[in-house]
Amino acid sequence: MTAPTPRPGILDIVAYSPGKAPTSAGPVYKLSSNESALGPSPMAMAAYRAAAEKLHIYPDAGAGDFREAVGAHFALAPEHIIAGNGSDEILSLLARAYLGPEDSLLMSRHGFAIYPILAKANGAKIIYADEQDLTTHVDALLAAVQPNTKMLMLANPNNPTGTLISGSDMRRLRASLRDDILLVIDAAYAEYVEDEAYEDGRAMVSEAIESGADNVFTTRTFSKLYGLGGLRIGWGYGPSSILQVLNRIRGPFNVSSPAQAAGIAALADKDFVARHLAHNKTERTKLAAALQALDVPFIPSHTNFLLVGQPDSALEARMKRSDALNHHLTQTGTMVRTVKEYFLPDFLRMSIGSTEANDALIAAIQKFYRP
Ligand SMILES: Cc1ncc(COP(=O)(O)O)c(C=O)c1O
Repeated sequence: MTAPTPRPGILDIVAYSPGKAPTSAGPVYKLSSNESALGPSPMAMAAYRAAAEKLHIYPDAGAGDFREAVGAHFALAPEHIIAGNGSDEILSLLARAYLGPEDSLLMSRHGFAIYPILAKANGAKIIYADEQDLTTHVDALLAAVQPNTKMLMLANPNNPTGTLISGSDMRRLRASLRDDILLVIDAAYAEYVEDEAYEDGRAMVSEAIESGADNVFTTRTFSKLYGLGGLRIGWGYGPSSILQVLNRIRGPFNVSSPAQAAGIAALADKDFVARHLAHNKTERTKLAAALQALDVPFIPSHTNFLLVGQPDSALEARMKRSDALNHHLTQTGTMVRTVKEYFLPDFLRMSIGSTEANDALIAAIQKFYRP
């Protein structure tokens, strides 16, 4: 009997491996998916519950109120915004619409692991450009461009490194790329950034729209700062020509009504956002100080996670110790993220959790290095 076969390349994809979830009882802290340390926004929860009364009604297919709210909050024209089932969906739509077997997707060496999956799912090649000090390197990206390069996906700040490039570097990148290459700025962690040299991409897209350029797009999420990872809501901002393409291929009701309502409410929850940002900074500083005191290297982060290395000089030893630390943390109830598929076999990514979770993580790390 012959079986239906997927398109060429699909079976070469290694499925995305999400951060591990707790499997046993007891105090287990999930610090493996960069989720909100303070839970969801209370105002978003209230809106979600209220939306339950109307679950029999299809959601607004155009997410009109949601796009209005995002537009008002971020000073953008709603007609240039598209809502997505998480920002993952927007990235996926972009890949589906623009990438095919003749094309290549360019990304930074340690860029977000969804990008190669999206390229391969659409039959496209993936090209990695080297980084410098675990940071996106504009010249390396430019040098890696191939004649068939169609798109460049760049997380800024990047996951899992937590590093970023400045607005001027991003602008130089766009200006030096061929016009027919779409630059996708994935700004999932933009809200956490304090660096004044940073730009989240909105202004670049607005300027592109004004000048009639159709080659910059940016994506955002409610999964991080706003604490709605479980609900799946994100958005994209870009030129009309691209939005028209994405709107042609997306599911008509791709974002549920509770997700739209919770997203709108989360934007208005200024108290939650302020508390979350303050908490993230305090706890990230605390974790960094604890690592420093143990001489454990880490990458200074602009996000809600830290990428943690090992003090050994040989790669083999660092990999071994990273595995041992991961095992120790799992055994003692804090779950962090291995990042081997990001070409970082000697690192662990640790999300900034609640104070209780962070304290448990720090205590477990101290016990590992100074038993
Ligand atoms: C860089 C980056 N982009 C996009 C996403 C996807 O976020 P969402 O939950 O909106 O699909 C993530 C989630 O971890 C991320 O780290």
